[in-house]
Amino acid sequence: MAGCRSWVFLLSVCVATFLEAGAEIKVTIPVGKFFTYELLRETFQNDFEPLSKLYAGRLYDDPMIFKCNRQNFPDLPEWLRFTQRHPYDNGFLYGTPTSPGKSIIEIYAINKRSYEAARHILVIKATAEKMLPFQAEFFLKLREIEKVLPPSVQDEVKQDLQKLWDTEALDIVNISNALDRGGRVPLPLAGHFEGVYVKVGSEQYFSDCLMRVTTEEHQKQCAAGDKVKVKVPGGCNFCNIPSNCITWCKTELFDLTKREPAPPPPAVGSGILEDGGGGDFDPPESPPSRDFFPDYIVTVIVPLVLAIVLCLLLAYIMFGRREGVAKRNARTNQIQLYHHHTIHGNADELRNMAAAERAARPPLSTLPMFNCRTGERAPPLQSDSPRIPLILAQHDPYSDTLPRK
Ligand SMILES: *[C@@H]1O[C@H](CO)[C@@H](O)[C@H](O)[C@H]1NC(C)=O
Repeated sequence: MAGCRSWVFLLSVCVATFLEAGAEIKVTIPVGKFFTYELLRETFQNDFEPLSKLYAGRLYDDPMIFKCNRQNFPDLPEWLRFTQRHPYDNGFLYGTPTSPGKSIIEIYAINKRSYEAARHILVIKATAEKMLPFQAEFFLKLREIEKVLPPSVQDEVKQDLQKLWDTEALDIVNISNALDRGGRVPLPLAGHFEGVYVKVGSEQYFSDCLMRVTTEEHQKQCAAGDKVKVKVPGGCNFCNIPSNCITWCKTELFDLTKREPAPPPPAVGSGILEDGGGGDFDPPESPPSRDFFPDYIVTVIVPLVLAIVLCLLLAYIMFGRREGVAKRNARTNQIQLYHHHTIHGNADELRNMAAAERAARPPLSTLPMFNCRTGERAPPLQSDSPRIPLILAQHDPYSDTLPRK
């Protein structure tokens, strides 16, 4: 049993080394020209499928994602980019090398169904080559980078541009996603695309069609914005497929022969300021003195006067109101005194009348405070006392001498 296992292990190691050795791909590319490498899911699918299943004629179409990096580095070289839109799409490595050299790229494919991984090695050797002196960049508004990178589409785009440039000797220098250059992520709706920049170069000078881009008339039209329909130079529209049509206003020409030499680096001095000329430090004159009196009046005196006036006004209102209350109290007292006076008179009159009646005893029920159920007689109240007010509405809340109701 153990022997069998070790056999299986040995076999798998052999297969793995065989696969790894077979998975190393070497490419040689010129510096300054566009490079694309398509990561075909089919190729990796073969790595994932056991041989027995392959012989059984079963084919899988697994979702896959890729991880690419320079060997022993966490990321790709600066010039190389990777893109894959969806796990069911192929991936692309693309970019334009800027300097000669060798890059070893590790490509890991992860099967999203079984979570197996496969590793391929891509060795890219960039060789020095002369830069193409005349370059032009075009913007394809209705494109996405993955849709342009397949070689067949690159050829279509190139053919249109060859006609526009009026030369066969044309090479693609760069293709880049508009999002990498400050473009906006489009709405997730049909008819909205990220946009792709395509840069081509040639040994031949720009055609007349291309030179129209540099005219003042064209630039004015483009500056006017979307409102003005930009007139495409007559006979210069060569796009067969609408999505390959260029945006004229974003076309740029680069004449590398006219490149000005880089300005000489600034000369570094000794670091010590030169003596003479300036002499001693001359402090700047102090500013003219300012009169702060108006400011003082506005910020201090005026609010103060206002505050005093308000204070006085408030005090007057307070004292005036109190006076009014006192006067009203006095008048109420007078009225009450008058009432007391008349009450006395009336009470005397009633007493006299009562004395006249007392000879005949009045029935009990006519007496005040007679309880008709118990027959009890409450002691008569001093109803004639001047302390009970006859008019309760006149009762004064400030005086304690009167009983509360
Ligand atoms: C190609 O385009 C990308 C994205 O704009 C840029 O970073 C890169 O420098 C370009 N390469 C060349 C050689 O122009």
